[in-house]
Amino acid sequence: MMDKLFEQEIQKQSVFLDSNKISPHYIPNELPYREKELKSIIQILAPALSGKKPGNLFIYGKTGLGKTAISRQVVEKLLEYAKKYNSKIDSVYTNCHIHNTQYRVLINSLNKKGFKDLTGYASSHLYEKLLSYVDSDGKTLIIILDEIDKVKDINELIYLLTRSNDELEKGHVSLIGISNNVMFKEKLDPRSKSTLCEKEMVFAPYNAKQIQEILNQRVKIGFKENSVSDSAINLVAALAASENGDIRYSLNLLLKGGELADNAGDNQVTDEHINTARKIVEEDIVLSLIDTLPEYQQLVLFTIAKLAELGENNKNLLGETIDTWISGEVYKHYTELSKQFGKETRSARWFREYLKDLEMTGLITTTMSGAGQRGTTQLIKLAFPADKILNVMKKQYDL
Ligand SMILES: Nc1ncnc2c1ncn2[C@@H]1O[C@H](COP(=O)(O)OP(=O)(O)OP(=O)(O)O)[C@@H](O)[C@H]1O
Ligand SMILES: [Mg+2]
Repeated sequence: MMDKLFEQEIQKQSVFLDSNKISPHYIPNELPYREKELKSIIQILAPALSGKKPGNLFIYGKTGLGKTAISRQVVEKLLEYAKKYNSKIDSVYTNCHIHNTQYRVLINSLNKKGFKDLTGYASSHLYEKLLSYVDSDGKTLIIILDEIDKVKDINELIYLLTRSNDELEKGHVSLIGISNNVMFKEKLDPRSKSTLCEKEMVFAPYNAKQIQEILNQRVKIGFKENSVSDSAINLVAALAASENGDIRYSLNLLLKGGELADNAGDNQVTDEHINTARKIVEEDIVLSLIDTLPEYQQLVLFTIAKLAELGENNKNLLGETIDTWISGEVYKHYTELSKQFGKETRSARWFREYLKDLEMTGLITTTMSGAGQRGTTQLIKLAFPADKILNVMKKQYDL
């Protein structure tokens, strides 16, 4: 029985040649339309080949534009050259979304360089270890801090890592910070800002034509011939172009579209698959967005979703479902829920801040009601089905 099921799975037709190549984690050898950026990064890092300290670099631009892929590819290539020309260059990559404090960045960097059993040591000790790692053979260590905006004590981290250059007898430390948060730079101390942004680079969005070309290249290596219709590729490119040229989004659409085609036993990905994929991918994005919200905002969102769930059975005098709530009422429910969950109740002023943040993420919309008997009030509406939101949050709150 089991053999038969395995055989059936193996025999199953698939539109994919190698679905790993469609994954956003895969970095293709060629990254078209980024030649200019590639050249600039090489020029910035090249001094390391002759033992000089490269300038620190800050790269920013919207999501899915190749910032991570290109930086990693250039640094890898640089290391190859370093080997060839006997230069002592080394690099370490940290995704700060996961390692989001100075301490965690240090631990991760040292772990990656083979240092084990580091827990329990103070940051200063970890820093000393990193220094002696660089000093031991006078290497240039390029530290890539991806999603650098996520580091909570970022000013301290930048200060610490760049101060090392004054303390090192041999070798250097250089930073490459990457972020898709345009406002991040403005939040830095002036000193950290001028240190990190010694050199700066912005990744501009790709246009629909460029996205199409990039996708064609990926489809060729990831899908069987003729397994994606031209019209489906055009549709994906158009959708991604309207999302600021986000290539990751377009790859996710293709991946999901391919899976849908496979599940349905179809031998070509068509517009229909892509349209369904779009709904699924968008849901995934929203759900992961909720997952990463700070706790207080989550609780506010949870309150609104709870009200929305109740509202399904709640009709106004005209028989319409109530889907909009007055902020004062939401706040009242919020205070009750936070007590119920044993969480600190934040003031109404903070509550209004959280509403603003939630609106920025696109999870809710707010409007001001016209002046009525009670003056103007803020009206809140969920921008996403309540049951989906509650599903994610139920896990969070263990309901
Ligand atoms: N010019 C390109 N050619 C081919 N593939 C590309 C190109 N630019 C980006 N990609 C692909 O798009 C995906 C997303 O790129 P990447 O992860 O580098 O985005 P990012 O700018 O770092 O986004 P984020 O800010 O969200 O981290 C990757 O799979 C990458 O290989
Ligand atoms: Mg990235």
